[in-house]
Amino acid sequence: MDTLVIDGGMPLHGEVRISGAKNAALPLMAATLLAPGDHVLHNVPDLRDTRTMLSLIKTLGGDWVRQGGTVRINTDTLSGAEAPYDLVKTMRASVLVLGPLLSRAGYARVSLPGGCAIGTRPIDYHLKGFERLGVQTDLAQGYVEARVKDRLRGGVMYFDAPSVTGTENLLMAAVCAQGTTLIQNAAREPEVGNLIDMLTAMGAHIEGKDTDTLTVHGVERLVAAETSVIPDRIETGTYMIAVAACGGRVLLRDSLSQHLVALSEKLRRCGLIIEERQDGILVFCPEVAGSSLCALESVDITTQPYPGFPTDLQAQFMALMCMGEGTAIIHETIFENRFMHVAELNRMGADITIEGSRAVVRGCGRGSLSGAPVMATDLRASASLAIAGLAAQGTTTISRIYHLERGYENMAGKLQALGANIRRISG
Ligand code: EPU
Repeated sequence: MDTLVIDGGMPLHGEVRISGAKNAALPLMAATLLAPGDHVLHNVPDLRDTRTMLSLIKTLGGDWVRQGGTVRINTDTLSGAEAPYDLVKTMRASVLVLGPLLSRAGYARVSLPGGCAIGTRPIDYHLKGFERLGVQTDLAQGYVEARVKDRLRGGVMYFDAPSVTGTENLLMAAVCAQGTTLIQNAAREPEVGNLIDMLTAMGAHIEGKDTDTLTVHGVERLVAAETSVIPDRIETGTYMIAVAACGGRVLLRDSLSQHLVALSEKLRRCGLIIEERQDGILVFCPEVAGSSLCALESVDITTQPYPGFPTDLQAQFMALMCMGEGTAIIHETIFENRFMHVAELNRMGADITIEGSRAVVRGCGRGSLSGAPVMATDLRASASLAIAGLAAQGTTTISRIYHLERGYENMAGKLQALGANIRRISG
């Protein structure tokens, strides 16, 4: 089993290039199924999840080549309409092919993703949305079978909660529907905006980008397009938190500060200095008397849909709060079970108790965590353990790092370049 071994205590210095966003790349790749032709996607991160999506596209009859960060996907002929369990079980975002397949082929069969480490994560909003467009959905043998009678027709959908992939799936189904579709309480995440830009480049007519009300005027057909994936705000935020935890001075090249306002606000209150520059975000920890790191203020957070504090940075922020000077309350409102990292952080010397959807983190100050063997349980929990390990005294060994590699491109290499003592061990 591959592991990450970290000898903690090194400050981070230098520059790191932020990769394209996993959660933007996946819907863009799925959107290539909407129209035949050669699609070109730039800044696609090379991750387990993006590779899984490429395998899925191949299973469906598409073809692709990758040259660096550019992936050319040809979807002239689709030979299948099924996302099998083996792929969906490794990546829930496989459900994103439902919308495009319904639009292009009128039929799709996709394995139900089931629960995962962070919660039950149903897809009922996706299915309800499709039904509003005239799709008949059936569940059988663990699969969703979705079928369009004649042609998709516009409809009205209100999401009970703003679902990111739900909004994306419905957008992709609606772009070629007959008539107009109204999506209310839509997700406003930048990744949805990136998809709207790609769909628009393909010929779609969508109003309301970056708002919670999207109007889609169906068009007859779309064409292949060329698009760039936006920078990964969660990767950016993870490195910002790492600098707050370890100290140092790092330029996060090719990052977008406007996507991280909620995190920046909280980190500034903790004591981190954040400067927005043309080439990226510069973060550094002020030093006291030229040597030791400034104390970390404890700050409460509540996760919320964008532009609120992202649930995908909750675990990493919690690791930081373990080193705070007071008590921080971390309220998780998006997923019901996203505290799997708590027990592992406590094994490193943290003092965290869970009260329902809140974690009470009693900070023990800088230098209070100690290295330990820990186990990654999901993608962002793994990143939180890496941050704790980077700041801890002694050696931390993180196992099951395939979770981390689903969503962080070359994390060990990037941290090594910043001066961290971290290595990836295979076997
Ligand atoms: N929900 C339902 N029914 C649905 C869909 C969602 O009840 O049909 C609920 C969820 O259980 C949750 C809330 O609505 O309580 C919001 O979930 P959402 O649908 O927005 O999550 P998602 O689209 O499945 C994406 C990201 C996640 C990220 C969440 C929230 C992708 C591929 N995944 O998931 O990313 O945590 O939005 O921002 O975009 C990650 O990258 O580590 C990750 C988990």
